[in-house]
Amino acid sequence: MSKIRILGTQLANQIAAGEVVDRPFSVVKELVENSLDAGARHIHVEVENGGMKLLKVRDDGTGIPADELVLALGRHSTSKIYDLVDLDAIGTLGFRGEALSSIASVSQLTLISKHSESAWLLQPENCDTTASLRPAAHPQGTTVEVRELFYNTPARRKFLRSEVTEYNNISACIKRLALSRFDVAFTLTNNDRLRLDLSASEKCLDEQERLRAICGPSFLDNAIYLNNQSSNLMIKGWISIPTFSRSQPDLQYLFVNGRYVKDKTIAHAVRQAYQDVLYKGRHPAFVLYLETDLRDVDVNVHPTKHEVRFKDNKVIHRFVHSALDSALAERYPKTDNFSDTRVDLVVGSQPKRDIMSLVDILSSHRFGEQADRNSPRKKCDIVGLKSGSADFFNDQHNKDIVSQDDREPIPPLGFAVAQLRYAYILAENATGLVIVDAHAAHERIVYEELKRTYEQQGLVSQPLLVPQGVVVTETEADLGERHKEEFSKLGFVLDRISSESLLVRELPAILRGCDTEQLVCDILADLIHYDISDRLSEEIHHILSTMACHGSVRVNRKLTLSEMNSLLRQMEQTERINQCNHGRPTWAEFSLEEIDKYFMRGR
Ligand SMILES: Nc1ncnc2c1ncn2[C@@H]1O[C@H](COP(=O)(O)OP(=O)(O)OP(=O)(O)O)[C@@H](O)[C@H]1O
Ligand SMILES: [Mg+2]
Repeated sequence: MSKIRILGTQLANQIAAGEVVDRPFSVVKELVENSLDAGARHIHVEVENGGMKLLKVRDDGTGIPADELVLALGRHSTSKIYDLVDLDAIGTLGFRGEALSSIASVSQLTLISKHSESAWLLQPENCDTTASLRPAAHPQGTTVEVRELFYNTPARRKFLRSEVTEYNNISACIKRLALSRFDVAFTLTNNDRLRLDLSASEKCLDEQERLRAICGPSFLDNAIYLNNQSSNLMIKGWISIPTFSRSQPDLQYLFVNGRYVKDKTIAHAVRQAYQDVLYKGRHPAFVLYLETDLRDVDVNVHPTKHEVRFKDNKVIHRFVHSALDSALAERYPKTDNFSDTRVDLVVGSQPKRDIMSLVDILSSHRFGEQADRNSPRKKCDIVGLKSGSADFFNDQHNKDIVSQDDREPIPPLGFAVAQLRYAYILAENATGLVIVDAHAAHERIVYEELKRTYEQQGLVSQPLLVPQGVVVTETEADLGERHKEEFSKLGFVLDRISSESLLVRELPAILRGCDTEQLVCDILADLIHYDISDRLSEEIHHILSTMACHGSVRVNRKLTLSEMNSLLRQMEQTERINQCNHGRPTWAEFSLEEIDKYFMRGR
């Protein structure tokens, strides 16, 4: 080995630069972050040739005093922290005091700044920062010009991608920064063409405008706004409704105390909140802002500051998960203005039917009669079709809808008028036509009820008149035997009767009437698949989801109008009803205007 030597400043800085600035966009990130830390309200970014030829960031922040300009370019020089205590609660984006020196070591950098009376320009050559400090013309604020990036580190330059790719990265970076500060105006020009012009937002509407410009208009149209607070945590932002999912996690923005970061704990909490409303393999979109006590988060864990470490991951996970979970659980269509009594009037039965009675409804023909007898609105049969008949267009139907409007409010999902292919319920509501996937909707209703009752007291079981033998594999029989207790909490009473068979004595009451053998086999398969032995509680939702699937109305099942209306009312009372357990939509609405437009009918 050669002799140990101290590296020259230039080389040391170039090595350090490798960590901080590896692409043009990371230079932009550092410079814009400096502008934000300096209190800028307007930030202009200019790019030429994908940032390789020129990167220029101009701001109207506090500026740098003339006697500190040279210092600003020195290694480990910062105005943002002074001692270890400051490092414990960092409230600025920068704090290491190495960005400018790193950038200056791998480019031709010019720094112009006006702090008070006059502006000064500094153009260091090979880290000799004293050489060229001279007066300049510049308004209040700072401009940093970076030319010929990586001109003296050919290895780094070799790894750069095409100009277009590098520019796209810069643009994405500016968008992230713009989402972090709605109150700051940003412009971005590429090769003299203005590509982004975001004015500072003063009110909520402007924020939405920026969100629309950055995330696309459909995101905002399909997003839920949330704003939750606990003693020292706050989360707000927009999350996509589950039917607006993406094939890649490419529309996910997380800001912790104003800093864009990637964080595994939060990513997991988000995934869990979406787990039973999102279609398999799809990703949610979100723009989320988490605010914590500065002392509860360490930002000094990654050279590019893209990661943070929380003092208590569990608390963060619980808080984020619960905020998203309840936002996603919001009932839709909103029933706030539609009291339960009105729903009861319609179904003509006990208030807030539980799922047991729904199963009763769906498996008994008596309910239809009952509902008709009890309901002051005997419209279920009068209004629409006699189930399966075809007088949808008759006048009586139209009159009844109108007169019914006068007497009682139409529930959000309206009243059933027909069933299509035994799979879809067609209903008429105040807006127009509602189409419901009966199986998907019922699956969600059963699933939510299963979760609720499981959490409260475990599922109630009901003895089978004749216990049923189920042939399984030896592993499955072992599992059934070993986990008798867990099974009983799920409402199953099982006995092993041979090496490869189980006897089912009791089933969850909520699922009676379904194919017992298939159900038990599927649950055992789930248990094996999820290797449930030690983590039944973690995966219980998968099992309950499997059970819900078995307990739900199957396609090709003819429903009466009363049954259909009951299902619609249940939907209005159910959390997360917009998607089935697999993330597919359960219903869709077509307004009269849309229908008129389609038929080119003016009103
Ligand atoms: N646009 C600017 N306006 C005002 N002051 C600035 C600006 N850019 C840099 N500075 C000053 O120069 C100092 C050095 O900047 P530099 O980016 O190198 O370090 P930092 O921001 O303190 O920490 P980090 O390396 O983590 O970014 C800053 O602390 C700040 O005082
Ligand atoms: Mg900085």
